[in-house]
Amino acid sequence: KIYARISGTGSGLPEKVLTNADLEKMVDTSDEWITSRTGIKERRIARNDEAASDIGTIAAKNALADAGLKPEEVDLIIVSTVTPDMIFPSTACIIQKNIEALNAAAFDIEAACTGFIYGITVAAQFIENGFYKNVLVVGVDVLSKITNWQDRNTCVLFGDGAGAVVLTASDKPGIMSGFLGSDGNGGKSLCCLAGGSRMPATEDTISKGLHYIAMEGSEVFKFAVKTLPEAVISALNKCNLTVEDIDWLIPHQANTRIIESAAKKLGIPMEKTMVTLDKYGNNSSATIPIAIDEYARLKRIKDGDILALVGFGGGLTWGASIIKW
Ligand code: ACO
Repeated sequence: KIYARISGTGSGLPEKVLTNADLEKMVDTSDEWITSRTGIKERRIARNDEAASDIGTIAAKNALADAGLKPEEVDLIIVSTVTPDMIFPSTACIIQKNIEALNAAAFDIEAACTGFIYGITVAAQFIENGFYKNVLVVGVDVLSKITNWQDRNTCVLFGDGAGAVVLTASDKPGIMSGFLGSDGNGGKSLCCLAGGSRMPATEDTISKGLHYIAMEGSEVFKFAVKTLPEAVISALNKCNLTVEDIDWLIPHQANTRIIESAAKKLGIPMEKTMVTLDKYGNNSSATIPIAIDEYARLKRIKDGDILALVGFGGGLTWGASIIKW
């Protein structure tokens, strides 16, 4: 059997830090509220001239360097994002150009915050069936560009960032199983209404703020605490592993209360759960690969560790992936 193994990781984060104290000056909020309700202390924000492909390219280059792979050895680039540079061409094609991966096919996928799980699952299919050897998967979002900075319900939650992995064909297990879920009926609880073919950009949509993230926070919260543990269990069952086998739970970073609830329901202690949202907030598609890259660089992930990645987001979508390191 051919497996898709992670052979390199990387991330790309904007330099500018926006703290809770900064937000106190922008909207009616407090460090105490944000910290106690979400766990977020600060987040990174892209410059005006910085787009998804810019930080995605940094993450991609770092992941290739970590894997010891030349750009021309990449067969496919998959980018998951809800904040592409533009509607088309795809951000994957722009990153392909930037890193000079001249032999790679490239496309974007969109599953909101679950995008990275969807991306590596799609990538694994190409590798396991022998179609490709090296696939670069980038999760990147620049949510600051579609955030209403006057809406305290949403603006305190998000940050910008990019994370990437290289998946390489191997005879040793890497991605062991996965689970993907979607429920279009819940789409309205997390969406960005304008700017597409249903509601193209006009002065009217802009004046009504319809190009910003709209969210029913408590609906998303309830959905997340229910689906995260279920997705992990479904993925574990598919590869005949149990919760006891998990060395690291790597949940989408949206809210520490959601992470703690999922870990508790699964019976996984917080010491085995990756948390980076205090520093970066919710970067949508990028939170999971950024967390993996950060913990890998700190040498906290050991050879043979079992990782359970799990995400949820707009669509609604959710999913999990079980990976041997
Ligand atoms: N500062 C101060 N007060 C605030 C703030 C703020 N930043 N934001 C909301 N409040 C107020 C509300 O107005 C409300 O006041 P009211 O009771 O007078 O009406 C009060 O705080 C409580 O609001 P709740 O919505 O009940 O707060 P809750 O404890 O549910 O936390 C939160 C809100 C943090 C948004 C939570 O529901 C959550 O994390 N939901 C999930 C969000 C999420 O994961 N989104 C994923 C997006 S991923 C993607 O695909 C882009």
